[in-house]
Amino acid sequence: MLCCYEAKKRVGVTGKVIGIANSPKSTQRIKDLGFCDIVESAAGMTPVQIYEMVEKLTNGKMADVTINCVNVPDQEMTAVLCTKDDGIVYFFSMATSFTKASLGAEGIGSDVNMIMGNGYTKGHAEFTLQELRESPELRKIFEELYA
Ligand SMILES: NC(=O)c1ccc[n+]([C@@H]2O[C@H](COP(=O)([O-])OP(=O)(O)OC[C@H]3O[C@@H](n4cnc5c(N)ncnc54)[C@H](OP(=O)(O)O)[C@@H]3O)[C@@H](O)[C@H]2O)c1
Repeated sequence: MLCCYEAKKRVGVTGKVIGIANSPKSTQRIKDLGFCDIVESAAGMTPVQIYEMVEKLTNGKMADVTINCVNVPDQEMTAVLCTKDDGIVYFFSMATSFTKASLGAEGIGSDVNMIMGNGYTKGHAEFTLQELRESPELRKIFEELYA
């Protein structure tokens, strides 16, 4: 949710933010927030089906930046497939396997740049607090989930 919010601010009117969620509940939540240009549920879809969906949504260009915070194993290839050559895949999920991500990308001839995220990235606290100050909708959800 935080990444979608920040991405929407930064891509401007010419960019496109695609939110891909799992359960109907989280899909509806991110839709209601309105931060994404498009929200889809990928529940039950294969990585190739998700690739085809993103290909269609981006007119074949694929994503410049993909942020992966899916908390289950075996999601590496979906993120790699959805990202253009020289694009960035930011793997934040603790379920990410370096082996699957790097060998998988090699296997399909993808030259994406992969980042293994660390929660203490520079400015993380300031960014997060500022986002919660700016967006009452985001703050409400965070209070409901975590307060
Ligand atoms: N890199 C770091 O330093 C660091 C530090 C802390 C945490 N993390 C990672 O940050 C991420 C977010 O943390 P969180 O506490 O927000 O985790 P969370 O609430 O468990 O969220 C993880 C997401 O994974 C999705 N998910 C769960 N099961 C799924 C399935 N079978 N198929 C597809 N999607 C599924 C959930 O979607 P639904 O609700 O729709 O099922 C949810 O949106 C986690 O991946 C965690 O490992 C990273």
